[in-house]
Amino acid sequence: MMTDNATITMLEKHHGGAAFTQVMRDTALGRFDQGFWATWRQWIEPILSQPPVIADFGCGPAMLLHLLREKYPDAKLFGVEFAPYMIEAVDKNLCELVVHDLHQSQVAIADHSLDAVISVHVLHELNQPLSNLREIRRCLKPGGRAIVMDWIRAPLADYLAAQQHDINSLNDNKLADVFTHFMEHNRYTQEDMTWLLEQIGFQVLYEEILQGERFGRWVVE
Ligand SMILES: C[S@@+](CC[C@H](N)C(=O)[O-])C[C@H]1O[C@@H](n2cnc3c(N)ncnc32)[C@H](O)[C@@H]1O
Repeated sequence: MMTDNATITMLEKHHGGAAFTQVMRDTALGRFDQGFWATWRQWIEPILSQPPVIADFGCGPAMLLHLLREKYPDAKLFGVEFAPYMIEAVDKNLCELVVHDLHQSQVAIADHSLDAVISVHVLHELNQPLSNLREIRRCLKPGGRAIVMDWIRAPLADYLAAQQHDINSLNDNKLADVFTHFMEHNRYTQEDMTWLLEQIGFQVLYEEILQGERFGRWVVE
């Protein structure tokens, strides 16, 4: 796809193109697993209004929104997304799709209108995470809550082992790709992420480290 938008160019490079849409579909149940739903039941379910109003910031092909639609048939659901191939993959009957670059303020969702926001594996894809986090805060109702999940920094050896990369068998192009992804997937420590969330004015209600200590999950209000 030809484009001169810097965010889209960056996303296409990081994702390796439109085929990443299918990767997100195939791996969704790993992200939205029993642990995710236990967190949801404990921290999000009790504060939902009826019907719930929920947004997924950086929704990809909207796999989580499909699962939420099954749980809450009457819910008002928003998906926020900017990559053209992800936008194409979202079922427009499922949710209100908001096409927006999360580097920018003013997502087209009203102030203090959402019970809950989810933003999963999005912050590491942004050149700065503040705008996205500020918009989450602006859109949440008083007492509303968000779940943020993302990569956290890991030692190089652990990262390469988990990705099953044998660096001695990779050519120059593949090595450039692997090491670029290492930087992108290792932007923030757990402490950085908690600090960032607190800087925005969120209260961190719960945090946990997931899957071999390479991912974290935060619940904020
Ligand atoms: C790793 S995918 C995760 C998708 C989805 N949250 C999930 O877990 O299935 C990250 C998503 O965030 C979106 N994203 C990244 N940067 C964005 C930006 N600046 N504006 C809007 N969406 C963005 C990507 O296009 C992609 O769909």
